[in-house]
Amino acid sequence: MASATVRFACVAVAALAASRAVGAFPGRAGAASLWCPEASVADGLEPVLQRLVAEGPHAYGDSGVPENTPPPWYDRKRFAAGQRLTEIYPVGITYAHIQALYMVMAVPSVLDVLVYTGNSDTPDEAWDRYYDTVAGVGSWYSSDIYEPGTWGYEQMKRVRGLHRMVRLDMNERPDQEGVRNRTRLGGNFSGCPASAAVRRDLDEVASSACPFRKRSPSAVDNTIDNKQDNEKPKSWMSQYDMAMTQWAFVAPVILFPEKYGLANATEELLDGFVHMWETIGYSLGIEDKFNMCQGGLNATLLRARQAMATIVLPQMRQARPPWEYMARCMADGLAYFIPGADFNSQLEIMLRDTLDAPVPSVTALLSPLQRESVKGYRGIMEAMRHDRENWFFRPVSSAAYYILKTRARLIPKDGIKLLRHRNPHRSKDCFAEIRS
Ligand code: HEM
Repeated sequence: MASATVRFACVAVAALAASRAVGAFPGRAGAASLWCPEASVADGLEPVLQRLVAEGPHAYGDSGVPENTPPPWYDRKRFAAGQRLTEIYPVGITYAHIQALYMVMAVPSVLDVLVYTGNSDTPDEAWDRYYDTVAGVGSWYSSDIYEPGTWGYEQMKRVRGLHRMVRLDMNERPDQEGVRNRTRLGGNFSGCPASAAVRRDLDEVASSACPFRKRSPSAVDNTIDNKQDNEKPKSWMSQYDMAMTQWAFVAPVILFPEKYGLANATEELLDGFVHMWETIGYSLGIEDKFNMCQGGLNATLLRARQAMATIVLPQMRQARPPWEYMARCMADGLAYFIPGADFNSQLEIMLRDTLDAPVPSVTALLSPLQRESVKGYRGIMEAMRHDRENWFFRPVSSAAYYILKTRARLIPKDGIKLLRHRNPHRSKDCFAEIRS
């Protein structure tokens, strides 16, 4: 009798846990429903997003709050729940961040800044730059960002300082045309076959998701200096750019947790993740009224889904060679460390597997070796989905964290990089004209 009671209790607890795990909670989107922007805002644009689009590009990107003081709404328990999620699923979450960076780089005002600083426009530099980004974000996932002396505290000061320096440099240039002229990537790109393939495929996907929509023009300018890029934002690295980058770190994780193997992510953990990013965004200078993550998990899910459908995916449908060039540099750089992470296979996985988009033209770009690499990634993702508590991947990621931490200690505290400090070289398959 006693054992039957215990068994019943176990089953009940398991059922309760399952019902709170990721497959069950409401509000997440099937990727397919994201391709029709009009349908995604049929009930109106979410108010924070509406404000962000209307006012955000003109709003200076740093609220001026001190980076070492928590916001008045800071909830230590929720923040810790967010850190717990990253501790259980570091591999899946890091992979989501990598895919999201490809996506957000399609937003021209974000891409412009990366091109301007020239710190990620070759595979070598991109490797260094994104390694440091992962280290910075990893520090916030694993230490108290408000406790002086911790890794997270030091990285917060450092990143806020980097942003401040670049923002001042760009915004205070008397000759704004000079901002673009200072970039070392010239206007013309050669090769870059994926941009046209992405445009062709995604236009098709959007048209069938949304048949009443007009197709977007397929001819897209091949240069950085096209009109869309030249419509310079009122403020460089504005609140809009900051919140869209915050979107990148949060949205894919909460919209598609199962795609990244976060099989046991409960509402509580995902809500904690959202709050953690609400807090990080605050300390990086995002104003509360533009903060993508305010209002908890469900409010953020709606906002994240609408931002994806109305801003990010429409920009990806206009994929341009400068985006492809910078994304290729990032992929080639990451491939130094992550085997098989070449651009074509990563693009295929992001579009076909994460976003459920049939992409025949992108698939046609894959070499036989890249097809094998895609299969390998699919196998790993499948294994991650079955490894619900991440027992297998946890030791791998602990080792990666250790390496990150050790290397991050070597970066001098005030080591703000000089802009455009190295000799350029080329990314395979997609070449930029380099200005001398
Ligand atoms: C929530 C938003 C953001 C987060 C979490 C974030 C995170 C980071 C991190 C961790 C670094 C350090 C990387 C390193 O040490 O090289 C960094 C540097 C940098 N970030 Fe951000 N960032 C955000 C928003 C933005 C935005 C909106 C832009 C531009 C539009 C931007 C542009 C840069 C630049 C230019 C650097 C210096 C390295 C370089 O020149 O590429 N960031 N960011």
